[in-house]
Amino acid sequence: MSTRSVRAAVYRGVEKHVAVETLLLDAPRASEVRIRVRAAGVCGSDRHVVDGEWNVPMPAIMGHEAAGVVESVGAEVRNIAEGDHVVVAWHQACQRCAECASGAPWACRFVRSNDSMLPDGTTRWHDEDGAEMQPYLAVGAMSEYIVVPEFAAIPIPRDVPFPVASLIGCSVGTGYGAVVNNAKVAAGESAVVIGVGGVGLSIVAALRLAGASPVIAVDVSEEKLAQAVLMGATHGFLSDEHLAEKITKLTNGGANVAFEAIGRIATMELLPDLIRPGGRAVYVGLPPENTRVELDALQLAYDGKTIIGSNYGGLVPARDFPRIAQAYLDGQLPIESMIGANIALDDVDDAFRALRDGDNGRRVIVFDD
Ligand code: APR
Ligand code: ZN
Repeated sequence: MSTRSVRAAVYRGVEKHVAVETLLLDAPRASEVRIRVRAAGVCGSDRHVVDGEWNVPMPAIMGHEAAGVVESVGAEVRNIAEGDHVVVAWHQACQRCAECASGAPWACRFVRSNDSMLPDGTTRWHDEDGAEMQPYLAVGAMSEYIVVPEFAAIPIPRDVPFPVASLIGCSVGTGYGAVVNNAKVAAGESAVVIGVGGVGLSIVAALRLAGASPVIAVDVSEEKLAQAVLMGATHGFLSDEHLAEKITKLTNGGANVAFEAIGRIATMELLPDLIRPGGRAVYVGLPPENTRVELDALQLAYDGKTIIGSNYGGLVPARDFPRIAQAYLDGQLPIESMIGANIALDDVDDAFRALRDGDNGRRVIVFDD
């Protein structure tokens, strides 16, 4: 167990370009594990960074949706062993504060993942001259190997294919958690999802799993709506000025629950108009920093509507990732249908282009045997 050289996709601030470089990755420390990555999803957040829309510490090893096999473990690791198949959680909560202790790690204020640091404030990455490098969201998934804390590597059954497993760590987990943990959707409830990209499609699939009906997908792309129907939506509506009217009619007074999975002001403001009195409006999409929205306060109060914020799907990864994997194995979550193409690490720029152009389906980087 020692430092090893790895090939990884690195963003150095040249917009819309990541380069595959050879880097050095240290051995895992006492309570860390080193993982041989087998699949890494190319997610919308990675694209925000590579397109220069979000600033992160650089040079950044891109990617935060990873699945792979544990290659080596630190001296104090007890719960995972070499050879285990794992999904990685990018939100690495402190595990000690009041929020973490009460089962809400997503609310932890001491998370360093957004600063591209492991919980101890350091990283295990260097370039060949010894300069420290930053794994995006404390994962840096687009790399042959990664090091994460033991608690962020969640074992899953071996029969889950790695590309499917990688998506559980972010897009699928976020969508599932928004439905199950945040909105607590019950069987028979009516639901709307605005924006059916990677996250929205996962919400649709989780709504079907929860027994919601009807499940109405809304998007500006016919192709995305067709994909949503494949994932279990009962209706697909193009976004237009009659949307609220159409949904009110179809659901006989508004949906029980509506999700916004884009992060746009106009659709966030529309959301409460799509639900019935007593309904829930869930904000999943992330708008730019300091975004404010205008809502009809009297209507919210009078109709007893609830606005719910959803951060990383309210996930408790050690509890939820295995549940999601099992639902997939039971044929209840068609995660495979979300994958547009498996690609090689060297083709990562093209995967970002596909995401930018709104091509159907997620790209997943698959590493060779
Ligand atoms: N009305 C309806 N749908 C729209 C509109 C609109 N005005 N504008 C865009 N869309 C659709 C797009 O066509 C696309 O299908 O929203 C979807 C957005 O999906 P992606 O770009 O694939 O983004 P995704 O990865 O799903 O992330 C969505 O969730 O976690 C956050 O940071 C993430 O804020 C982002 C959001
Ligand atoms: Zn993501």
